[in-house]
Amino acid sequence: MHKSKPKLIIQGGNPLRGEIHISGAKNAALPVICATLLTRDTLKVNNVPRLMDITTMLILLEQTGVNIHSENQSEVLLSAENLTNLTAPYEMVKTMRAAILLLGPLLARAGEANISLPGGCAIGMRPVDQHIKGLEAMGAEISIQHGYIHAVAKKLHGARIIMDLVTVTGTENLMMAATLAQGTTIIENAAREPEVIDLANCLIAMGAKIKGAGSDIITVEGVPALRGTEYTVMPDRIETGTFLAAACATTGDIFLKETDARLLDAVLDKLTESGAKIKTGNNWIQLKMTKRPKSITLRTAPYPAFPTDMQAQFMSLNCIADGTAVITETIFENRLMHVQELKRMNADIKVEGHTAIIRGIPQLDGANVMATDLRASASLVIAGLVAQGETVIDRIYHLDRGYESIEDKLLQLGAKIERVGQADIPN
Ligand code: EPU
Repeated sequence: MHKSKPKLIIQGGNPLRGEIHISGAKNAALPVICATLLTRDTLKVNNVPRLMDITTMLILLEQTGVNIHSENQSEVLLSAENLTNLTAPYEMVKTMRAAILLLGPLLARAGEANISLPGGCAIGMRPVDQHIKGLEAMGAEISIQHGYIHAVAKKLHGARIIMDLVTVTGTENLMMAATLAQGTTIIENAAREPEVIDLANCLIAMGAKIKGAGSDIITVEGVPALRGTEYTVMPDRIETGTFLAAACATTGDIFLKETDARLLDAVLDKLTESGAKIKTGNNWIQLKMTKRPKSITLRTAPYPAFPTDMQAQFMSLNCIADGTAVITETIFENRLMHVQELKRMNADIKVEGHTAIIRGIPQLDGANVMATDLRASASLVIAGLVAQGETVIDRIYHLDRGYESIEDKLLQLGAKIERVGQADIPN
């Protein structure tokens, strides 16, 4: 068997029009399915998106002894009655950093965990010191051996933990660990992201005592055991924002179902600033754009400010906008890799440190470009949709890690997009 290289080919210039549904949130589903490690009972998770990262996480959980049954592709039954292996190997962690989410729950439930250190990635160094610091404060003994985090704790105890910086998976890891610790844990400077609230809601349904999720102080009173439950994952706010940015850039008119506008205040504000007309309802968002977008200056920061996971998509929007925009990335030190690719499409962007200055031009040129990470891939798709002529995007496996059926959804909205090449072809 050898791998041919799947690519996306986009013929630009078609406004996105029509209606699609939004999938469950990748970054909520990942910690929610890990919560199964905290109970012997069955956890049923609904609205799980079909994504490479989810598949990788399910394989990883299966390797620890979790029984997994998928009734249909979006409903998953998980049962961690017996944990037989407490290791997350390098081969898995290097493909998906979210594997670090096994550390807290495995340690709390089984008293031990061996998780490969993730190492750096395409968007930055991404250390996990805050995860380690928090678990040590709860009584864990942690050492780094042969590239693995080796953690042991007979019984974790409650602690007051002040995070040095806001970390999403760090907060989630500590919150999960604290549910089974003895006593009360207070996490200060906690991440306020909606995905943290979603995980907390699942844990509460499993019997955990958690207060304050969604604020910067989360209090968890440990309980002896958690029970099974059925939980439905929240809609993906980044997938939602990506389609909205694409519709705005292509002067389109789209209706997104099964989403939640309340998760996207900062993004909707910026789209409105660019000239889009937005209407929202209980579980839908409509965006209509009738003219060339105006440039939008923004700065990424932890929730509720503008998300780093939407920065690249707004970069593409700004490439064809009227005016000059300044985008500052404050979360990751190396998350402007898409700039070089957008420049190959004739974009006018200058980078100084963590800031990009984008002078909008009326039209991008289609070109061969390469995806470098998940959200960078999404920005190249948007650029391809607005560009004149053909854009070929290589390394789209990044895209498949985080966007469910992206071509199908774009085709439904009238885009001219095609996937060529296959993942596995016999020699
Ligand atoms: N950081 C540390 N030490 C730590 C933890 C984080 O220095 O112990 C730093 C990171 O290096 C980064 C900043 O803190 O500079 C924030 O990182 P955070 O820990 O919040 O990121 P994460 O939890 O690893 C999640 C999402 C990312 C998203 C970020 C920021 C998941 C599975 N991943 O990552 O999603 O960009 O929060 O919102 O929830 C994506 O979906 O494309 C993606 C990268």
